Amino acid sequence: MVKIGILVSGRGSNMVSIIRACNEGKIDGEVVTVISDNPDAPALAKAHSLGVEAVYIDPSPGKVVLKGEGERRYIEHLKSRNVDLVCLAGFMRIVKSGLLKEFRGRIMNIHPSLLPSFPGLEAQKQAIDYGVRFSGCTVHFVDESVDGGPVILQAVVPVFQNDTPESLAERILKEEHRIYPEAIQLFAQGKLEIKGRKVFIKEEAWKR
Ligand code: GRF
Repeated sequence: MVKIGILVSGRGSNMVSIIRACNEGKIDGEVVTVISDNPDAPALAKAHSLGVEAVYIDPSPGKVVLKGEGERRYIEHLKSRNVDLVCLAGFMRIVKSGLLKEFRGRIMNIHPSLLPSFPGLEAQKQAIDYGVRFSGCTVHFVDESVDGGPVILQAVVPVFQNDTPESLAERILKEEHRIYPEAIQLFAQGKLEIKGRKVFIKEEAWKR
């Protein structure tokens, strides 16, 4: 059973989908802790109501990047819970050297675009403004870059001419809730292998 730690900042709908997938046996794992860098994140109450430990941990001094004392507090807490896999789920801070060194190849993120298109903030608005016909979401391992680590799974959705960032976000979110638990289960089953910037999936369906 993989021990999962989830880092959140806000709503926590991906966090809920991961906790539910664990409870339903779709992931061979358990969410052992949820950490928020925002004391008012709705995700904290949602995790509590699902019976999962959820704590606010002061991320300062970093405003954008998790670093220094803040980073040390996060690492200590994750290690104290024997976390194997760290899942960023709407965590609004950039993760850098310290956490990466401690959990290399064991930190995942979900991003609401088909990376490498539209990294960073407001990915759905970026897609609409660019005029693409398709967008989607990406689960990837986290490395030093912003939204640039090795891709694990992606899902595609159409972009319609009358879409707003909100309507597109809603369509993408449904896919996020499907592929994030899937990617975690592949990790839990030891089926993911990182080779350079690629992820190979040791599963019959993917051996094409
Ligand atoms: C999601 O769209 C995710 O892709 C992005 O932040 C949003 C978080 O939503 N990284 P939620 O907190 O999981 O509901």
